Amino acid sequence: MSTSHTTTLHLHTAFTVDVVDPRIFGGFLEHLGRAVYEGVYEPTSPHADDLGCRTDVLNALKRLRFTAMRYPGGNFVSGYHWQDAVGPREKRPKTRDLAWQSIETNQFGPDEFMQLSNRMDWTPMMAVNLGTGTPEEARNWLEYCNVEGGTRWADLRKEHGHEKPHDIKLWCLGNEMDGPWQIGHVPAEQYAIVAQQTARLLKMCDPSVELVVCGSCAPELPTYLEWDRKVLEHCKDDVEYLSVHRYVGNEDDNTPEFLAVTNSIDRQIEATDSVCRSVHHTKKTKRRVYLSVDEWNVWYRARTGEHVDGRGKFAPPLLEEVYNLEDALVAAGFLNSFIRHADSVKIANLAQIVNVIAPILTRGDEMLLQSIFYPIEMYAKRRTGVSLQTRVEGPGYESKKYGHVTYLDSSAILNGDQLSVFLVNRDLENSAEIKIDLADRNILSLIDAEIVTGKDPKLANTYDCPGLIQSQAFTELSISGGKAVVKLPPMSVYAATLQLDR
Ligand code: AHR
Repeated sequence: MSTSHTTTLHLHTAFTVDVVDPRIFGGFLEHLGRAVYEGVYEPTSPHADDLGCRTDVLNALKRLRFTAMRYPGGNFVSGYHWQDAVGPREKRPKTRDLAWQSIETNQFGPDEFMQLSNRMDWTPMMAVNLGTGTPEEARNWLEYCNVEGGTRWADLRKEHGHEKPHDIKLWCLGNEMDGPWQIGHVPAEQYAIVAQQTARLLKMCDPSVELVVCGSCAPELPTYLEWDRKVLEHCKDDVEYLSVHRYVGNEDDNTPEFLAVTNSIDRQIEATDSVCRSVHHTKKTKRRVYLSVDEWNVWYRARTGEHVDGRGKFAPPLLEEVYNLEDALVAAGFLNSFIRHADSVKIANLAQIVNVIAPILTRGDEMLLQSIFYPIEMYAKRRTGVSLQTRVEGPGYESKKYGHVTYLDSSAILNGDQLSVFLVNRDLENSAEIKIDLADRNILSLIDAEIVTGKDPKLANTYDCPGLIQSQAFTELSISGGKAVVKLPPMSVYAATLQLDR
């Protein structure tokens, strides 16, 4: 029989973490599977706009309010040559992508991405090829994108019909170079030298750019954190951000364990940040390097065999994870962790945005919103403000892998006289009565709130039943003496905006 337990979420407006950087609500679009082709770009679709992009997909993406959008990879970028994908389409070569064993037609390239990005109001975040590419190739690309004109590569952009520079401020120095699977993978010392050479060239070409250097892409790798330290010691003064990647999964089919993974996301962020702080402190650098969690998601079902091997095809269906309710709770856990660490995490990118480990799927002219779509939408709406420290007082359970977890996972953002709270009830059986206790201000009223919940952690949307998991308005909340109380059903993600007294 289902019962209820009580938890208090303690907050105080003076106990702030930092301003939440809007770029933690970023996305990632890679030339992989059906992400670009059949995902965002499908000129033959009845949904296509004048750029050949699918308006149904773009409208759904708009609901997620993505900020930083990373492109064009991923593993793909480590064999990519940007010059293949610019200029007249009929002259662009067909190329082999060895990372995903697929065919790339280059019909959608960086200039098309920039047109799309401007239309979507994204902040472009370009990754350069440091697998088979050179620092000079990267620098040429930057000139092509950011320099007004009068020199070779900038003039080439103009010739291609893009008179004004794209003015791209965020650049990633390669992708997952610590991963043995990466094209051009080398030891940390070797990568650090090339990353630094590239960083210096890029900044000589355009000093206004901000750079992300590759950090450890998985805690399981033997070089975890040692790689980060070596790379940072070498590149600390040349880069602004250190890249962190994190994919999680429920391989053991144990939902409570899976929901406890948030603990280890916190620890990964804290451990990596501690390397940044330690290099900053011991090497007496002027500024700290911050974190860019530029790939994160649940990914474990479509991770091997035919799911990752394109078998020489164009736009093969790869990494097409189907997301369920428990995944939605874990996605919310990632976002809570980023908000709680607003002082160190400045960029985070959901990997990815459509068809490939994505909140949105397409099938022919149809589109399906997956479970993880909804928490991301609920959080993104309320992302403006300052993150508050959260203190949770309430029951929990012991996880074998991740230690003690409270049933409630939470984060909070203060925006003037409005407080947004983000709550996940990880209890599979029982509802949770949550008291929101903001010590120094009174809560006056509920502005709005939504919930995602369901009876079965494995429940997922399908093309036949697309509304099994979705967000719903949830207005049941009582306020007394300036404190709010909300009763959350088992397995739920809740986001609310509350009006405070002045
Ligand atoms: O997002 C899918 C892949 O995951 C990316 O290409 C790679 O960077 C990571 O291993």
